[in-house]
Amino acid sequence: MNLGATPGWPVVLRDGAVLLRPYRRSDATAWSEVRCANHAWLAPWESSPPGRWDEMNSPAAFRWVHRDQRKQARSGESMPFAVCLVEAGRERLVGHLNLGNIVRRAFCSAYVGYWVDGRVAGRGVIPTAMALAVDHAFGPGGLHRIEVNIRPENGPSRRVVEKLGFREEAYHPRYMHIDGAWRDHIGYAMTSEEVIREGGLLARWHRLRAAAS
Ligand SMILES: CC(C)(COP(=O)(O)OP(=O)(O)OC[C@H]1O[C@@H](n2cnc3c(N)ncnc32)[C@H](O)[C@@H]1OP(=O)(O)O)[C@@H](O)C(=O)NCCC(=O)NCCS
Repeated sequence: MNLGATPGWPVVLRDGAVLLRPYRRSDATAWSEVRCANHAWLAPWESSPPGRWDEMNSPAAFRWVHRDQRKQARSGESMPFAVCLVEAGRERLVGHLNLGNIVRRAFCSAYVGYWVDGRVAGRGVIPTAMALAVDHAFGPGGLHRIEVNIRPENGPSRRVVEKLGFREEAYHPRYMHIDGAWRDHIGYAMTSEEVIREGGLLARWHRLRAAAS
């Protein structure tokens, strides 16, 4: 279904227990709970909030976040996914993945940002979400290149992209204002040619997991 300016949006994607879907207004309480419970886990990797964490992540704040997300998605600038786990028939919001800064024409590129609830970290939720989102971006989303920028100190996030086979291609000094200062970032990227012959990134991820188990 494509109701707006963004090819491939809105959409629901799923692999096993990991489900990606557009946010809903009714996510306010769950989003606030997971964001507040993960303050110490998320703050070192996020842009410094202009106010107190609990205020910036309250159910009331979600209304503004959601409005902004919808506006950007409608104008074709982003695809903001709620990352959910479906277990015992119950769906719960455990994270976020955004294909943002979408530029089309000769670039056809997007930046990816993500986080997951620390209580479910290490279960491969974000690599699975990333593989689903990248395959969607390279297919119905009509994109050609996906970029991820990560602080050198963020070992877990670097593991995510390195496991999936993103190329390390740049070092950006003082790239983004994160957790109170301008922080260096490593630039990783992938273009569609790099996974198409393998049947996509999800197929690659499944093979890697099977080989590791
Ligand atoms: C980076 C992040 C999204 C990874 O998501 P995930 O779903 O846990 O990804 P994985 O399960 O593949 O785990 C990635 C790595 O984290 C490490 N890890 C595993 N369990 C962990 C835990 N309980 N706590 C911290 N790190 C853990 C491991 O090194 C793992 O890699 P490996 O097991 O393949 O060696 C998650 O750690 C997170 O949300 N961190 C805080 C926010 C953030 O850094 N966002 C990204 C900014 S660029």
